[in-house]
Amino acid sequence: MAMATNILQGQMSEWALLKRHKSEDLFGIQICGGWSDTLTRCAQLINDELVADFVDLNCGCPIDLIYKKGEGCALMGKTNKFEQIIRSMKSVLEIPLTVKMRTGIMDNKSIAHHLVPKLRDWDVSMVTIHGRSREQRYTKSADWDYIDQCAELAKPMPVFGNGDILSYEDLDCHIKETEVKGCMIARGALIKPWIFTEIKEQRHWDISSNERFEMIKSFVNNGLEHWGSDQQGVETTRRFLLEWLSFLYRYIPVGVLESVPQKINQRPPKYIGRNDLETLLSSPNCGDWLKISEMLLGPVPDGFNFLPKHKANAYM
Ligand SMILES: Cc1cc2nc3c(=O)[nH]c(=O)nc-3n(C[C@H](O)[C@H](O)[C@H](O)COP(=O)(O)O)c2cc1C
Repeated sequence: MAMATNILQGQMSEWALLKRHKSEDLFGIQICGGWSDTLTRCAQLINDELVADFVDLNCGCPIDLIYKKGEGCALMGKTNKFEQIIRSMKSVLEIPLTVKMRTGIMDNKSIAHHLVPKLRDWDVSMVTIHGRSREQRYTKSADWDYIDQCAELAKPMPVFGNGDILSYEDLDCHIKETEVKGCMIARGALIKPWIFTEIKEQRHWDISSNERFEMIKSFVNNGLEHWGSDQQGVETTRRFLLEWLSFLYRYIPVGVLESVPQKINQRPPKYIGRNDLETLLSSPNCGDWLKISEMLLGPVPDGFNFLPKHKANAYM
């Protein structure tokens, strides 16, 4: 996600977010903003200057700072402005425009079902619904029945669902025999980056701690390639690694689980892994994440402080 105003101001760090890696065979750019002029100009720049397959409008971000400016989830409550933004962005885009939103703003007052037929009529190509309201954040499970009702009302525009998927079985039970055409996976991809292989191959992969460590190594190598291997590049890579480790430790190895599959909100009792590395990778302790970072990036500099940015790593 990039902020439309930061893009228009030419902020280098924001433009860096829009860079497509050669390994990405499908690449969408999500933008966040609250006004049709900035969002449309931004869409035009993406259309004319970049190689993207689609543009996604963020109508789901719950963060106060964004919401109070009328951006993210706030757009769901302003139908006229929403329509103006969509129609205006559509007029400059040659690639599909999609929308990501929530069930609504307030708990117990879902509004997505009123919005999806409108979005279809405004010619949006696809909508993703995260099955929780702004107020709910990550409390309560995502409401996939409601997502399915929205998918029925949106036809023939496809609706994707989003929320709590951590295994191919989670996905199957939400997609099979429903009108939901696909899904997006967020925390599941951070906790278990191999989830896409599991879905493709319809199996639970009892991945070894060495295989997981190889993935961490390759993340670090990509980080150093991107940010450079000087002191600043190393420390930027370390911060991104630590953010990721604050999710990654939540994976419970298949061979250790009492019953498969793991559910995303399942907090396991403290367990000992099948070797020291597996135990280390399961640690919820920030000091252990620093230790893992030191194994690959060298000693943490004096005075280094780390607190995970995203509260979503909190369990329900
Ligand atoms: C670290 C993190 C960053 C996120 N950033 C975005 C974002 O930029 N845009 C967005 O639409 N949703 C974002 N989300 C929300 C997810 O896309 C998703 O809607 C939510 O986490 C529920 O799906 P999940 O249960 O698969 O995690 C983010 C979530 C997490 C955990």
